[in-house]
Amino acid sequence: MSHGKKTQMISAGRKPKWTQNVVNPPVQRASTILFNTVSEKKDATINRAKQTLFYGRRGTNTHFAFQEAMTQVEGGAGCALFPSGAAAIANSILAFVETGDHILMVDTCYEPTRDFCDVMMKKMGVETTYYDPLIGEDIHTLIKPNTKILFTESPGSITMELQDVPTLSKIAHEHGIVVMLDNTWGAGVNFSPFDHGVDISIQAATKYIGGHSDIMLGTATASEKYWDQLREQCYLMGQCVSPDDAYTALRGIRTLDVRLRQHDENGKKIADWLTSRPEVDHVRHPSLPSCPGYEFFQRDFTGGNGLFSFVLKQSNSKATTALLDGMSHFGMGYSWGGFESLILANEPSSFNSLRTIANPNFTGTLIRLHIGLEDIEDLIADLEAGFERYNKALTAHS
Ligand SMILES: Cc1ncc(COP(=O)(O)O)c(C=O)c1O
Repeated sequence: MSHGKKTQMISAGRKPKWTQNVVNPPVQRASTILFNTVSEKKDATINRAKQTLFYGRRGTNTHFAFQEAMTQVEGGAGCALFPSGAAAIANSILAFVETGDHILMVDTCYEPTRDFCDVMMKKMGVETTYYDPLIGEDIHTLIKPNTKILFTESPGSITMELQDVPTLSKIAHEHGIVVMLDNTWGAGVNFSPFDHGVDISIQAATKYIGGHSDIMLGTATASEKYWDQLREQCYLMGQCVSPDDAYTALRGIRTLDVRLRQHDENGKKIADWLTSRPEVDHVRHPSLPSCPGYEFFQRDFTGGNGLFSFVLKQSNSKATTALLDGMSHFGMGYSWGGFESLILANEPSSFNSLRTIANPNFTGTLIRLHIGLEDIEDLIADLEAGFERYNKALTAHS
């Protein structure tokens, strides 16, 4: 029987083989799995890559339930698990390159993705070329005979540029290149990677999948063509996760859609409010035309979430500090995707080391917000008080 995406998120990964007929699958903690007979052991060995209990590093029924759920939600043929989003990115890249190869990496990628290319890939003799997130079909000018991976992230980290993923994928596929996407922002729900030409969709499940700021976990979901290579090469790197984190992430999927919609509603209200603030130069929220590449959000995404940025007209670190210090509801901390609101500031100079091609081209400080599930009036009052401190500090230091 056909069913919609919301129904799928409730039923995905809940077959009795994993759940043993309780609603959520039991948490199976295991290194050793015992076999009753030589023949059972032989069968498990033959089927060890096919969600069969074999040895803890290959996963238990708890992991299999979560992997199956992720594959149903994102699409693709299978999902590999990693102890963090960063590990999912690093190991997915590693699985598809060898010395002498070349990677096309979006310039607005998550900072540790860039560091992995600049340090680890360089050490292995793999060259990285960074490209403008808005390059579109001109990507073909950067493709070399040894290009193996086109890595995308849409929207980009911190500065939020959206990419034309279908066009990039089409051109990459004409050259036999694997297309990877950091799909953490789309969360597998609001951007369907495999419908847009992506071969491997990576998520920091630390963010919206977990949704409560209490797990470290990464996923990489692959199309049929690349699943075997991804799974086996990441397995060789010893990648595995705790069953408790797999369980927690699976539970996160059940409420993912409703949480995302509320984050999105709250985020849009704050973004709209910010557009009318005199201190703000522009807002980089994917649903607003002031966000670079917003037309791709309109075309390819089915919804948003609570993560976006805005740029202040001025860069004054004392005033920015006054804005950030003393917030009541916005916490100051890395990561995002939990139920709580967060705030971080980036001075324009910090992009000097983060970007080589896509100069964000603004002079004011960028503030990144994650809008949580609090009452919107409380969040606005918090930001209003922050702007008051900011303006006072600006006058005092002018
Ligand atoms: C877009 C994006 N990708 C990947 C990661 C890495 O995830 P983790 O912190 O789980 O390693 C993050 C973390 O902030 C992120 O924002």
